[in-house]
Amino acid sequence: MPDPSENVSRRTTLRLLTGAAAAAATTAPAATAAVSTAAATTPPATARAAAPPSTGGHVDALIARLTLDEKLALLHGAQEPRGTGQAGWVPGVPRLGIPPLRLADGPAGVRVRARATALPAPVMLASAFDPALARAYGRTIGHEGRALGQDVLLSPMVNLIRTPYAGRNFETFSEDPLLTSDLVAEEIRGIQDEGLIATVKHFALNNQEKDRTSVDVRIGEQALHETELRGFEAAVAAGTGAVMGAYNKVDGVHACENRALLTGVLRDTWGFDGWVMSDWDATHSTVPSLTAGLDMEMPAGRWYGDALRRAVRDGTLPEAAVDRSVRRLLTVMGRFGLLDGTAPARPAARDREAGARLAYRVAVAGATLLRNEHATLPLTGPAARSLAVIGPTGTVPFTSGGGSAHVVPDRADSPLDALTARAGDGARVTHALGEDLYGKPLPLHGTALDGQRVPAGKTSTYEGTLTLDAPDEWTFVVHYGGERPQVLVDGTELFARQDREAELFAGFGLVSTAPDGLKVRRRTLALPAGRHTVRVTATGGAHGQLFRLRHITPATRAADVAEAVRAARAAHSVVLFAYEDAAEGRDRATLALPGHQEALIHAVTAANPRTTVVLNTSSAVTMPWLERTGAVLQMYYPGQEGAAATAAVLFGDTDPGGRLTQTFPVSDTRHPMAGDPRRYPGTGGVQEYSEGVHTGYRWYDAQGVEPLFPFGHGLSYTTFTFSGLTVTPAPDGGLTARFTVRNTGRRTGVTVPQLYAGPSPALTLDQPAWALAGYRRVTLAPGRARRVTVPIAARTLSSWDPARHGWVLGTGTRTVRLGTSAREVRLTARARVLSP
Ligand code: BGC
Repeated sequence: MPDPSENVSRRTTLRLLTGAAAAAATTAPAATAAVSTAAATTPPATARAAAPPSTGGHVDALIARLTLDEKLALLHGAQEPRGTGQAGWVPGVPRLGIPPLRLADGPAGVRVRARATALPAPVMLASAFDPALARAYGRTIGHEGRALGQDVLLSPMVNLIRTPYAGRNFETFSEDPLLTSDLVAEEIRGIQDEGLIATVKHFALNNQEKDRTSVDVRIGEQALHETELRGFEAAVAAGTGAVMGAYNKVDGVHACENRALLTGVLRDTWGFDGWVMSDWDATHSTVPSLTAGLDMEMPAGRWYGDALRRAVRDGTLPEAAVDRSVRRLLTVMGRFGLLDGTAPARPAARDREAGARLAYRVAVAGATLLRNEHATLPLTGPAARSLAVIGPTGTVPFTSGGGSAHVVPDRADSPLDALTARAGDGARVTHALGEDLYGKPLPLHGTALDGQRVPAGKTSTYEGTLTLDAPDEWTFVVHYGGERPQVLVDGTELFARQDREAELFAGFGLVSTAPDGLKVRRRTLALPAGRHTVRVTATGGAHGQLFRLRHITPATRAADVAEAVRAARAAHSVVLFAYEDAAEGRDRATLALPGHQEALIHAVTAANPRTTVVLNTSSAVTMPWLERTGAVLQMYYPGQEGAAATAAVLFGDTDPGGRLTQTFPVSDTRHPMAGDPRRYPGTGGVQEYSEGVHTGYRWYDAQGVEPLFPFGHGLSYTTFTFSGLTVTPAPDGGLTARFTVRNTGRRTGVTVPQLYAGPSPALTLDQPAWALAGYRRVTLAPGRARRVTVPIAARTLSSWDPARHGWVLGTGTRTVRLGTSAREVRLTARARVLSP
């Protein structure tokens, strides 16, 4: 398990866009679509987050008493002497009662040196299309964060899913701005209800990991406001205490010194009154950053320590500029009762059971059934009594993605155990690996390199030989804790020290971490026939050193597939777990499942077509094998209760509640980023968001491209009908949609009716063909019907006019579609949008 306090590469700097974001000629209200709020089970720990008392006088009095050094100490991170392993720390000023701040990741649970509830990845939360669940998710993290000694949570991440390749798609919500805004607002309320300060990140346009610290994003003002910024704006409206500046540049200026973003948009247009911190090592200057609106450098004081002191002392920067940033920070601390001892007492402990229950609830609610042919699911009758479980993540629980959102879970069952328990006595559940991630022991003469322990302070060398009858391809897999051992095959060093990237990612994510937490690296060699020498030198650091050297060859691979095929033939039905292990810091190079999983799926489905593929993947994958399967269940990274949730959905104890929050493309060449390197990943350090307002499903509509699975898609085990759609004008310039939904099947089930609005005839601005305008998650018992009302906010019907630097309402007659995805239309109505 990577050290939670450790982080991915941190370097950066960024220019912007809208010029001074002039007070917008806003004809639509700032509120985002109405959402149901809070399924809170207990009252908020503090009402301060929502209704701050006046702390201005107290803050000003404090500032007057602070020395310059004390002020500076509040504006950058430092190393906590005996910390909890959180990502950041700000020392505070004890003599004046300003407490230190601990800042912890992250989006899927609290990441410190202790265990915490590993919640399903945010993309899975989003798949539930349920803002009330986002509130509960926020409250769980908020409560745990406080119990674990934290003050600030580095979450939620709200950057839109723009490219299916992006490494952090699991850590954020959706490709759609409305859904994202609704969820982020409720999650922030939940976090802050518990007295933890939320930090919305990464402001803005950090939509990929490739070149994240340097890429210069160019985006038009209209697209910027209508897509990426919507979630941030909703976060500000929900009262987020902090905002984190992004690594990348925008219009030639690093986001963390981008005045147009940090001051123009954030403060002048949206009225943000909290503080802005940099992403880790994303600060690139002193005076330009501070005056642009970056209040705090994290995680250290390279720019805001001595350099800032010098700038004030030599008169380059007035001390009032420092005071302004200190005031922003202290104002939020005051709001949370951190300055006068009125913050509610920290919970004595986490509520592990409540955390586990919520993790399970979200995993079930976000489970997305993409395909279900010939009633493959749910598993009932003979299908439930004779089952082959295939795939490495069938036994190694895959709870979280890699990077700063990784959480050390309280516990995690293997899906195999959960399925076996659920199948019950008398059922036959077998397992075959199918695809080997961690290798087999080496057939060496002379030494066994499969669990060597080198004592502390000692260096040991091990040598063995292996003999090949014919040339062969060998993948050597080293597992290690601490310092990586030196591995030589025939005198060639396998894992070069200078391969910084590989070293950085060892221990990040499923494939790079062995089940017992050791780091894993691989190297493939073409070995000629004959005798080969393998020599390993390992040094036991302070705590000794454990390592293994293993191997994978075409023959071991074929044997794993053959075993899986035998298991598939011998069982009535198959559940095949497929993985894709995304991690912060890197994008995918292809949308295909990694390794040899496609070949495995082909072989297994040929042996048994009653195969369900369970996807533990971060984002879209391509599925050339789709038609051969019985069913496909998207489970993302389902958190610590993922095994039980997967079993419950597969066996039909609960309806799969999730819907896609991003479009799945057919191939690597049929999606918005395909074929245009200027769009993705960028050329010459510059990247153009030339898709404009047509992000995600809007691009597929604009280009007439068929997706594999559309945005909003997800199947139920029951059936629904929709009728009686009416759409009428609302007094605020919005619309109100009403319709009836009926469960016509034989099970209780979930449906997520979605409303998509067509363009306004009154605007000459570019508009999406269809844009999500409202939705509602509905659970109904068989035979039951419900009349549903969904408000469509005026903002959702508005476009950003770059000529006026503001929103304009898209008036006139507009078509509204009701459907079960961006492509599956059930009913259509027309309504007039009227200026209020
Ligand atoms: C990530 C942030 C994270 C920070 C602290 C950075 O590398 O981009 O999302 O909060 O590290 O761990």
